[in-house]
Amino acid sequence: MTNEPRLIRVESPAIGPDGALDGVALVVLDRPEVLNALSSALMEQLAEALEGLDQDPGCRCIVLTGAGERAFAAGSDIKEMAGATPGDIALRDSFARWERIGRVRTPIVAAVRGYALGGGCELAMTADMIVAAEDALFGQPEIALGVIPGAGGTQRLTRAIGKARAMEMILTGRRMDAREAEAAGLVTKVVPAEETLGAALELASRVAAMPPLAVLAAKEAILRAFELPLSGGLELERRNFYLLFASNDQKEGMAAFVEKRPPAWTGR
Ligand code: CAA
Repeated sequence: MTNEPRLIRVESPAIGPDGALDGVALVVLDRPEVLNALSSALMEQLAEALEGLDQDPGCRCIVLTGAGERAFAAGSDIKEMAGATPGDIALRDSFARWERIGRVRTPIVAAVRGYALGGGCELAMTADMIVAAEDALFGQPEIALGVIPGAGGTQRLTRAIGKARAMEMILTGRRMDAREAEAAGLVTKVVPAEETLGAALELASRVAAMPPLAVLAAKEAILRAFELPLSGGLELERRNFYLLFASNDQKEGMAAFVEKRPPAWTGR
């Protein structure tokens, strides 16, 4: 539907004068006038864009960020939800879009400036790594709206920072600043605000430079750590480890080490 407003942008980012970053795509939540509130239309476009990039062999890492300096995203669109009945919510099946995003196999780095609240915090946590600006604020304020997080907050925040701190944040709606989030293990690193996107792109480019099959296998195994008992997780890890010995990149990586030269990955 070509007349629909575009609420996200997909770009091929560049760092410095050398041009496009090999293998990195940039996805921007683009509703800055409402602090990138996550409407159904935006989430549909986001899920489609991420699924498209996931199918693109040229894309090996994705950076996800919000337009403007004030917010990554201030949550699901409250105005859209305000009058909904349980039936409306069920029929909209909004969470199916979140599940589609959670199934993306390509690593995603969230670059967070300003507010990452409610669904915004949940979206950042659905990404695989978070680069946070010094001005970033994370929180699950849904309790103050009479609801609870619905897109994974009670589960992912608890896994990220532990029960005691997740309880406090979700039961009171308190926000956590970037330094506290870093100390709690929610974010990968904190950088000065104006360096946020550059630092996320740099991190993504380092992932994109790694052999893609090994990257996919590693992401899958890490994520399954949240689902499986240790024995099952170790079994999956071992299976992925064995499988990679069937790849050209395993032969190349180990040969390059022995021959003291940089590896040339083929992605096979
Ligand atoms: N939904 C819809 N619109 C939003 C929004 C949201 N989540 N957050 C901000 N906006 C809009 C505001 O309505 C305002 O629009 P208007 O100019 O048309 O009034 C614009 O963005 C700017 O926001 P503010 O004027 O409120 O800016 P501020 O600087 O005074 O406050 C803020 C910033 C503290 C982030 C405040 O906007 C806020 O509290 N936002 C809501 C945060 C929240 O409760 N998020 C959870 C949503 S529920 C959820 O996400 C459910 C889930 O788990 C899936």
